[in-house]
Amino acid sequence: MNASASVSASSSSRLLSELRAQDGVSMLRFLTCGSVDDGKSTLIGRLLYDTRRVFADQLATLANDSRRFGTTGDDLDLALLVDGLSSEREQGITIDVAYRFFATPKRKFIVADTPGHEQYTRNMATGASACDLAILLVDARKGVVTQTRRHAAIASLLGIRHVVLAVNKMDLVDYDERTFRDITASFERFAGRLGFTNVAAIPISARDGDNVARPSAAMPWYRGTTLIGHLEEVEVEASAIEAPLRLPVQYVNRPNADFRGYCGTLASGRVRPGDELVVARTGQANRVTSIVTRDGDLPEAQAGDAVTLTFERELDIARGDLLVDPKARPEVSDQFAAKLIWMAEEKMTPGRQYLFKAATRTVTGVVTQLKHRLDVNTLEHQAARTLGLNEIGVVNVSLAEPLAFDSYRDNRTTGGFIVIDRFTNQTVGAGMIEFGLRRATNLAWQATDVTKQARALQNGHPPAVLWFTGLSASGKSTIANLVERQLHALGCRTYLLDGDNVRHGLNKDLGFTEADRVENIRRVAEVARLFADAGMIVLCSFISPFQAERRMARELVPDGEFVEIFVDTPIELCRARDPKGLYAKADAGKLANFTGVDSPYEAPETPELRLDTTAAPAEDLAARVVEFVMNRR
Ligand code: ADX
Repeated sequence: MNASASVSASSSSRLLSELRAQDGVSMLRFLTCGSVDDGKSTLIGRLLYDTRRVFADQLATLANDSRRFGTTGDDLDLALLVDGLSSEREQGITIDVAYRFFATPKRKFIVADTPGHEQYTRNMATGASACDLAILLVDARKGVVTQTRRHAAIASLLGIRHVVLAVNKMDLVDYDERTFRDITASFERFAGRLGFTNVAAIPISARDGDNVARPSAAMPWYRGTTLIGHLEEVEVEASAIEAPLRLPVQYVNRPNADFRGYCGTLASGRVRPGDELVVARTGQANRVTSIVTRDGDLPEAQAGDAVTLTFERELDIARGDLLVDPKARPEVSDQFAAKLIWMAEEKMTPGRQYLFKAATRTVTGVVTQLKHRLDVNTLEHQAARTLGLNEIGVVNVSLAEPLAFDSYRDNRTTGGFIVIDRFTNQTVGAGMIEFGLRRATNLAWQATDVTKQARALQNGHPPAVLWFTGLSASGKSTIANLVERQLHALGCRTYLLDGDNVRHGLNKDLGFTEADRVENIRRVAEVARLFADAGMIVLCSFISPFQAERRMARELVPDGEFVEIFVDTPIELCRARDPKGLYAKADAGKLANFTGVDSPYEAPETPELRLDTTAAPAEDLAARVVEFVMNRR
């Protein structure tokens, strides 16, 4: 497909700057959303066709393709113009976000075409974050459907303030005014709460072109502008160029001792040589000496430009730092409130660690609280413990290190972030920061005079976290108990934290859902860290079924202090032992979420010790653990 200068997402920023280079004419970026059969591809095809973006040779191909793959009989199937690669056509699906452009004498346009199938939040979030306007397409025969409301809610969340409700397929409802009015009224009732500046409803037929580029003779009752007319006229907010300067540092370029340049794409604002900038994280100030690009030095650069800056003095910064205007600084905090769109089948679970990537910086963090989930049909707030695929929540996030950021409302680049799974490296969520949390900036780590080392010295041994994991009835507590007895006899200062016991007190409020288990282990890991800080050997005996949380517990203490001990007992044996009768209950369906029955156990891949309880008695296995601990010194 080449009729519309279709480009991939990665080259879109280059396209943007090329378009900007032809000055004098303004540019509008918009997004089209609709479900599979609403006619979205046909509409985009129509926009391109009516603005003369399709040329003679492509028309010949199109006519041919229309006969082979089309759905419009002998007519041209405009959808085929945009549905891209022929393999996609043959499968009848459109994937990923495609950017296309067209122009009229009044304006240039970039369309982010996002497919409407299952993974739509991911695609929308990708496509919408740079858009000024969204076209929500509905089928006149069906009216406003769940998908329309979802798209509207997501567009609003992503900061889009201008919406066009394009009521398509008017030809199939006899161009009936009443139908159009009813759909419009129903949409406006819903969208009234979404904070759009402007909602325009236009009755169209993308297939025949009615009210797209030319007014429709079939709908004389409609006196508004055509779709293209509206897109040409609609006034959108000032662009990122007018916002305060933000340059997320992509990397530091140091080819030799004489040159040190800081590279990145300007997220907002402008910069000139002589300007003073500060590093947001440290407050360190410095003056720009030059703006280097592939095509020579520039007198000025602005939002969207990829540049390398050099400074008067050396800066102590790294990839991920944010260079900013000293007069309009971002917030710097390790905690913030945000809206989060979840994009993975695997649920978002508070307390679980993820990677948070904001602009060029990636930091580990957790969602500390899911304040509520948003019902996108009613816009009601719902209580929830987790977020599933395509769900939206309001959350508090806590990061391992401070981050410089703006609110998403002020800056979509420095206020937006994605969430990455630490094991699969996949993007599992997208977020919009609302504000930093005071509690974070008003808290400091209080240094104490008696240190961990001093405590350990007095105890006469280094601290350790001995983490026993395994199925219920695998023998964890029995072995942990034996290990503690032996260590105690050897004069070690110990403490044993046991799943059943901790759940009687500190974790009394938690059950056995995935979310509760994550929180259970998070708290226990923090307590274990305190015991290690007290210089002690702490034994933790918990099923701890998830790899992610065991890794979190490990990372809370210095390397070498955490000893993961996998008490490896086949489930058949645990079931046969069943000291508390829990397997029997679970098998009879009287106990839900039981590990190994209807709740998973992820066995450790590389534990420090694996104890095969079928091969040796508990006493021998305990002796192995003690030996490992004592040899560690
Ligand atoms: S964990 O999964 O969150 O690590 P934890 O070790 O604290 O679990 O608690 C496990 C103990 O709780 C088991 O040994 C068992 O006695 C009891 N228990 C009660 N219900 C369940 C359940 N549904 N799944 C697993 N253990 C349960």
